[in-house]
Amino acid sequence: MSSNLIRQQFLDFFASKGHQIVPSAPIVVKNDPTLMFTNAGMNQFKDLFLGNEVPKYKRVADTQKCLRVSGKHNDLEEVGVDTYHHTMFEMLGNWSFGDYFKTEAIEWAWELLTKVYGLSPDRLYVTVFEGDASENLAFDTDAKNEWKKWIAEDRILLGNKKDNFWEMGDTGPCGPCSEIHVDLRTDAERKAVDARTLVNNDHPQVIEIWNLVFMEFNRKADGSLENLPAKHVDTGMGFERLCRAIEGKASNYDTDVFMPLIRLVEEKTGKAYGKEEKTDIAMRVLADHIRTISFAILDGQLPSNNGAGYVIRRILRRAVRYYFTFLDRKEPLLYEMIPTLAEGFAGIFPEMKAKLAFIENVVREEELGFLRTLENGLNLIKSEKSIHTNSEKILAGSFAFKLYDECGFPIDLTNLILADDGIQVDLPEFNRLLEEQKSRSRKATTQSSGDWIIVRPGDACEFVGYDTLEAEVQITRMRSVKQKNKDLIQLVFDRTPFYAESGGQVGDTGFIQSANEKIRIIDTQKENNLIIHIAEKFPENPEAAFVAHVDQVKRRDTTNNHSATHLM
Ligand code: SER
Repeated sequence: MSSNLIRQQFLDFFASKGHQIVPSAPIVVKNDPTLMFTNAGMNQFKDLFLGNEVPKYKRVADTQKCLRVSGKHNDLEEVGVDTYHHTMFEMLGNWSFGDYFKTEAIEWAWELLTKVYGLSPDRLYVTVFEGDASENLAFDTDAKNEWKKWIAEDRILLGNKKDNFWEMGDTGPCGPCSEIHVDLRTDAERKAVDARTLVNNDHPQVIEIWNLVFMEFNRKADGSLENLPAKHVDTGMGFERLCRAIEGKASNYDTDVFMPLIRLVEEKTGKAYGKEEKTDIAMRVLADHIRTISFAILDGQLPSNNGAGYVIRRILRRAVRYYFTFLDRKEPLLYEMIPTLAEGFAGIFPEMKAKLAFIENVVREEELGFLRTLENGLNLIKSEKSIHTNSEKILAGSFAFKLYDECGFPIDLTNLILADDGIQVDLPEFNRLLEEQKSRSRKATTQSSGDWIIVRPGDACEFVGYDTLEAEVQITRMRSVKQKNKDLIQLVFDRTPFYAESGGQVGDTGFIQSANEKIRIIDTQKENNLIIHIAEKFPENPEAAFVAHVDQVKRRDTTNNHSATHLM
């Protein structure tokens, strides 16, 4: 069965159970300060779970583009090295917003896997939440009883809070979950070792494919759990893993989701997949990372030097490093993979084909830039090696750190290049400098925040500061933050004349005033696309109408392309 058919069957199945099929949200998150990228299908439905929004449909299903490369769910280092983690993956999901709960969620998951997709029940195992005394959470007896209708009791395993209590991040909707695992080993292996000892134990052939979450709680910023206004279902199935299970392949990369990309890399580099481990890892890294890079750019996140853009730049550079080092490729390669990628997704995300030239250009330019850096780094290493290597063939850690810090040259690459001449880096010194740098940046950014208090609906904030130094504004949300040991307040408005520059510069300070109070704005910052105003105290009446006054406007920079309006 082809992957496109597998995806379609999922959607058709849930449509037949009364679900509305909805589009994937963009992979880049614009209006949630707790997230950079969509890391789960439920992100776009967070406000429905929390009761802040009324659902248009009580049952929906979709395939969601997800990225797990930062924050709580981060798989980056495993990607390519193993055969079943990805930076970007599609999550097939069905949702109930205060409608059906465990009975139907479990019955339908079983029906789809065993009847529609024809997976053998003999290879399936499920887990249920065993409870957690420290949080006063009970054993999920209901889920266990529901599963007993479908699967032998000895295939229902218990899982702890780490595996069977799903949370979106440090705060937000959460609840106990029940996972479905599939055993893809050969019969001989299955006979030799009981799969139950391998579930949730990082075995590459005994893998989780579907997670059914029963949303009941909201995790607050102080760590406590409060009940949600209603109970919901949030399921997420790893599409690439499902394809592998149905197509009976030994690795996600052997499915028709990734194979066309790997074949293309073989063709472009003249190397074969499946012959040598290092080459294979590099090809998997490329086949995986090009998806993340391309979808992020498509959804509006260009590679850059900070925030979400930096994450994308690092992923792109990781891919370049792999082809440069292990596939002997010294010129751009990733951008040449994009037409094949777009073709594979033409049926479900046709927008990639439409923006092909733009994405290719961005990627190629990035590749060229980093390849130049790599080359410069190589030259620096060459001269440093001949002058400053001591008799024990040890190169100073400070030099390796400089390469890393200033040229983006990762330590493993430096090591690899030096290894040819039997030279080693003074690693303890390198690590000490790295640790010092990390601790400096931790100190600089240490910040903890309370929950947002929503004053009125809406996330968009119009920047009106090019035309005026004064504007009527309304507060849409606020929260307390601890920044560099100071207790401060963050305020978000519907529109603002304050210019979001960090560091309290002209243009981003002033005050807001209502009939009864005046509040000083000491800084304005942009964080994940929210324009945030820093104040020293909460307004007594946040719902009042305020007039904002900017202290003194920054001279308008006519050389840049800022449009007069920043909409989020
Ligand atoms: N939210 C759950 C997950 O991401 C199920 O969709 O695994």
